[in-house]
Amino acid sequence: MKLPRPGRALTAGAVAVATLITGGSVAGAAPATDRPASTAAAAPDIPIANVKAHLTQLQSIAAANGGNRAHGRPGYQASLNYVKAKLDAAGFTTTVQRFTASGRTGYNLIADWPGGDANQVVMAGSHLDSVSSGPGINDNGSGSAAVLETALAVARSGHQPTKHLRFAWWGAEELGLVGSRYYVNSLGSTGRAKISGYLNFDMIGSPNPGYFVYDDDPTIEKTFKDYFAGLGISTEIETEGDGRSDHAPFKNAGVPVGGLFSGADYRKTSAQAAKWGGTVGQPFDRCYHSSCDTTANINDTALNRNSDAIAYAIWELSQ
Ligand code: TRP
Ligand code: ZN
Repeated sequence: MKLPRPGRALTAGAVAVATLITGGSVAGAAPATDRPASTAAAAPDIPIANVKAHLTQLQSIAAANGGNRAHGRPGYQASLNYVKAKLDAAGFTTTVQRFTASGRTGYNLIADWPGGDANQVVMAGSHLDSVSSGPGINDNGSGSAAVLETALAVARSGHQPTKHLRFAWWGAEELGLVGSRYYVNSLGSTGRAKISGYLNFDMIGSPNPGYFVYDDDPTIEKTFKDYFAGLGISTEIETEGDGRSDHAPFKNAGVPVGGLFSGADYRKTSAQAAKWGGTVGQPFDRCYHSSCDTTANINDTALNRNSDAIAYAIWELSQ
């Protein structure tokens, strides 16, 4: 496909797109004509229907492959093929990185958006493997689908930020962050120094959701908090196990990290239900690591808000 040249000015067309943004998040109140010429492009609304369509496909993949999408199983390979085909068709440069874990071959999928400063890489990632006990739709089809749809939105909008954009889908997270650790090691210190930030999305559509922001790099954290503040939604700092997902290898290597999380097996308190709704005393995700982690185990509102927050952060942090 034909890609717009890097560094193009905000055109009338781009302004028209920006004014169509819904959700009250980033579309400024000022009319397009009042925007200074230097105003950065605004993030698009991520269509929730598209994100959910990816989840439906991931569930079908699990159903056709013994009920899961786990490391070393055919459902993982099929999940990777699905995501890779979408990215290739949209104009990404994709790389499959192979590693071994527990005697089976695993794969990371890396997708680079052509353009931007290669010495300033903004990265977003999610683990694509499920546990073997279920299809893993909230954990972590949700993050995988939202990051995929954000990448596709970058392609659709022809977004050409100053920084280079890279998206990743990790293998073998459920075996102990194996794929992401392998990737971070493979970069070497030179490669790691080029990553301005890594944003992680693991479980963002929990059925009894909370709105948790990782308490790590202050700039990334503020970007997410600003987004939710703009929607009038209060957030809390993520405390359900720091270091339990793929941002940990990046953080340990000195890369600035951040991310979003809607909760796993901790239970919602009355104070949390008062601000977020949902059910007091119930887990955020009662199907965590279970066979019932299906497309029925998703709260659409949480998935929608978190997907839009991903796009907002990618746009804000890359230009
Ligand atoms: N995949 C993670 C796990 O199985 C899910 C998780 C639990 C998580 N607690 C978290 C992800 C906190 C991010 C932050 O452990
Ligand atoms: Zn997970």
